[in-house]
Amino acid sequence: MIIFGGSSCQTLSKEIADGLGAEFGQVTIKKFPDGERFLRVDSEVKGKDVAVVQSICKPHDENLVELLFLLDTLRDMDTGKITTVVPYYGYGRQDKRFNKGEVISSKTIAKHIQMNSDEFCTVNVHEKHIMDFFDIPSKDLDASPLLGEYFAICELESPFVIAPDKGALPLAQGISKVLKCDSDYLEKTRIKPGKVETHPKSFDVEGKDVIVVDDIIDSGGTILEAIKIIQKQNAGSIHVGCVHPILTGNVITWLFGNGATDVVATNTINSQISFITVSSLIIDALTL
Ligand code: R5P
Repeated sequence: MIIFGGSSCQTLSKEIADGLGAEFGQVTIKKFPDGERFLRVDSEVKGKDVAVVQSICKPHDENLVELLFLLDTLRDMDTGKITTVVPYYGYGRQDKRFNKGEVISSKTIAKHIQMNSDEFCTVNVHEKHIMDFFDIPSKDLDASPLLGEYFAICELESPFVIAPDKGALPLAQGISKVLKCDSDYLEKTRIKPGKVETHPKSFDVEGKDVIVVDDIIDSGGTILEAIKIIQKQNAGSIHVGCVHPILTGNVITWLFGNGATDVVATNTINSQISFITVSSLIIDALTL
């Protein structure tokens, strides 16, 4: 198998290729002076199975176009099986038609990916039903055990895991399973993008090291609301984890400034807090 990495996932895809003992695919990616993207596959791929790793993260549209160009080109070059790996499936939050005439972005993207893919996998997709947009064999990999292993080596005092909304509860449970501790969740209402309201709730966290975990940290508003509620309950310390660090603006400084002891994420998106690699998850998915 040959592993190709798009611009957003160069380090991760190389790690996957090395872990598999597979060839790392050579691609030339450039921009024309007007900003249009040029791409050329330099490896010999005829008849070989390939995997393409690319997150749909900032700059979303450029990374998406690059992925679609790469898949279409590989198909034209008569490869064997094409597996598309999208560690962060951007546009996942536009997963239904909230108002008449709106695009269901995550469905449109699925349609275009599967035109030139035989298999698909992603990591902690924002809404499970997005996987139903795919008609090809698809896997939604779960990074929560990897987050759990990270926190296990932090030797926390009586850890307790809290999800800032019900949607993140399975992640919290995945971590608490590794740490053999309790988990719970808060109820959140989104007022508008970047503005949420979280309903107060009491937890048994006095003196305990609390982990707050979400799938995405974007503006940080969701995590911050949770931190405020937990701080009032005299937790020993508050550690923050997420799978996909979108991190809009100065969110890390903001979280540290408001009581977080530690903020950590996986490398589905490259960031200054992407200390946990999902390469082992993807390697397993490609080999099973
Ligand atoms: C929303 O349902 C997601 O699970 C996250 O809670 C959300 O995307 C985080 O966004 P923010 O950091 O802007 O509150």
